[in-house]
Amino acid sequence: WYQQTLSVVVVGASGDLAKRKTYPSLLKLFEENLLPTDSIIYGYARSCKSHEEFRRHLLPHLKKTGTNEIIVKDFLSKCYYHSGKTYGDKSAYADMIGDGLVPFEESTKNTVSNRLFYLAVPPDVFGESGVVIKTHGMSTTGWTRVVIEKPFGRDLESCDALLQTLSENFEEHHLYRIDHYLGKEIVQNMLMFRFSNSFWEPIWNSDTIESVVITFKEPFGTDGRGGYFDKYGIIRDILQNHLLQVATLFAMEPPKNEDADAIRDAKVEVLKNMEILSLQDCLLGQYDGYSDDPTITNKDTNCPTYAAIRCKINTPRWTGVPFILQAGKAMDEKVCDIQVRFKPAKSFPSMRRSSKNFFENAPAEMVMRLQPDPCIFLNLNIKSPGLSTMPTRGNMVMRYEDMPNLSNPDAYTRLLLDVIRGKQGSFVRDDELRFSWQIFTPLLHDIDDTKVRPLPYRYGSSGPANREAWMAEMTKSVLPLQASL
Ligand code: BG6
Repeated sequence: WYQQTLSVVVVGASGDLAKRKTYPSLLKLFEENLLPTDSIIYGYARSCKSHEEFRRHLLPHLKKTGTNEIIVKDFLSKCYYHSGKTYGDKSAYADMIGDGLVPFEESTKNTVSNRLFYLAVPPDVFGESGVVIKTHGMSTTGWTRVVIEKPFGRDLESCDALLQTLSENFEEHHLYRIDHYLGKEIVQNMLMFRFSNSFWEPIWNSDTIESVVITFKEPFGTDGRGGYFDKYGIIRDILQNHLLQVATLFAMEPPKNEDADAIRDAKVEVLKNMEILSLQDCLLGQYDGYSDDPTITNKDTNCPTYAAIRCKINTPRWTGVPFILQAGKAMDEKVCDIQVRFKPAKSFPSMRRSSKNFFENAPAEMVMRLQPDPCIFLNLNIKSPGLSTMPTRGNMVMRYEDMPNLSNPDAYTRLLLDVIRGKQGSFVRDDELRFSWQIFTPLLHDIDDTKVRPLPYRYGSSGPANREAWMAEMTKSVLPLQASL
């Protein structure tokens, strides 16, 4: 692919996602020489702008990446802009492709020209964008790939409608559904970590693991995105996609091979064996002052900004192990991690009563922290150093920041490179998406239909007051997790 021509079209180029994520990631790939030399990037949106105006619009966002100014300038010289009346405007597409992409592709010496369409637009225009890409945009000499962003619907029915619309124009190999959590280092490392260290496999199951808690917390609220957020809520925004994806990789059986489909088949098996969720499985919260956001029109909204959900995976490996997924906005810190609690050790014969109590109250834990400061650490029981024979706690830590020559590119950068390389393993397949909505839809409909009130919590706190009691009940353990190093 490196010796082939690449035309990228960012649809929705003047929007927030494009300027914050898509263009900075393309710049990073350019900086690392990971875009083919013969590349061109067209932005497409509805607002009328010249190429120069568009470059000026991008500049501050590209500068924020800290990339050298000369490289930014070079990159911008590959960026062009075209506007149309709608996202399905056939004549605008015909002009952009006929006067922009085709002459560029013909000007290169390559026989193969590939096209990547990045849809940084809301899902209600996926359909019209898809039609016009299909009729005007497909490459005739190379591949055409279409990247789409969540939300992939609001429930199973709307997801099916979206899948249908896209499948009318594309086959699955054309489509790359991005979930940027799949591009985070710890998540990308999951399969290697689990399956290339032989000692994990015998204990990565219900014999040894008591519970798994996957947490996402953000210290800010809707931040002006209330209009969008209030229609979706934290479950659709974070749990049904990001945290569920992480859970499936954590829980899946070894894939048959490393192919994208083998990995996704193994993830789908987890989803097929997950129990459908109901209101009894969850704790909902809403931070005080949420509806003061001027972009939220329904001031009596029952939209959850915090949710914790107990999932059950009925496979031989996991039966009986609660998987808790929890996510919240306006909380006390920014963190995302997986906390694995191991079962207490069975006492060895000479164990003193005091030591036995210690072990029962201090089970070993492993934490895989996605952010901030990605790391993996174990909290273990050890003998107190020195003459004492009493137990105490010790840590084993693997911090990414301690690694020599660390490169930790943004999740979007990694995933965009995967798209260009044609690696679909870290993208969400259609059946995976359907199963995930199947699990969540009854719960989401119950929340909407029963108008259940989420419990209030203070902005900047650790969530609703009874969160710990709920956790204790769901994990069958009164011990708070010791997620700190
Ligand atoms: C997005 C959500 O998918 O992920 C946002 O829509 C959230 O609400 C964001 O803030 C979090 O991503 P990250 O990578 O900052 O953890």
